[in-house]
Amino acid sequence: MKELKARILRDGRCLPGGILKVDNFINHQMDPILMKSMAVEFVRRFARTDINKIITVEASGIAPAIMVGYLLELPVVFAKKKQPSTMENILVTEVFSFTKQQSYKICVSKDYLKPGDKVLFIDDFLANGNAGKGIIDLVEQAGAELVGMGFLIEKSFQKGGDLLRSTGIHIESLARIESLDNCEIKFKD
Ligand code: G4P
Repeated sequence: MKELKARILRDGRCLPGGILKVDNFINHQMDPILMKSMAVEFVRRFARTDINKIITVEASGIAPAIMVGYLLELPVVFAKKKQPSTMENILVTEVFSFTKQQSYKICVSKDYLKPGDKVLFIDDFLANGNAGKGIIDLVEQAGAELVGMGFLIEKSFQKGGDLLRSTGIHIESLARIESLDNCEIKFKD
């Protein structure tokens, strides 16, 4: 998506270790106009998909997910990283964070992810695909169906894209980064 790539070039910053900092418009300060344009693009790309619910993981996935849910007029559920003591009837899975080199649990209530749901997963980054794998597991546990996964930014030099595409699920990324070597941002297409 042209507009996102231009914004990454303008405001994104490379950090050592292949990290792209986009906290000026996605991860900390957020640009709702761009967020809306990105959601419109997801709606276009998943136009032929039968969806009844959007799912994401807190925290950074929530903004793009709710924009998509707003446009499609569908409910948005976010998997929680801390299990609230008041939450019963939950599905839990473990996610390994490559960046933080540790595992954490994500959970969702069975009230909000049910058999028969046709779920679209939206997230900010596709890196190693661990959050995506966790969502695949939660959706399976619920007896629901994952009908697509949409990411704002895919770091194609990490293994998540290949891993998730090998499942056959419809994956869309709005900007695919081929390399951040020498702190130079190179897009794949
Ligand atoms: P994965 O989900 O693709 O496996 O990601 P990985 O374990 O590699 O990364 C863990 C966290 O770091 C995720 O957010 C992911 O979105 C984020 N991340 C990965 N690469 C980058 C990057 O280049 N730039 C930025 N800004 N983030 C990156 P998280 O821990 O779930 O954080 P949050 O959603 O609470 O913000």
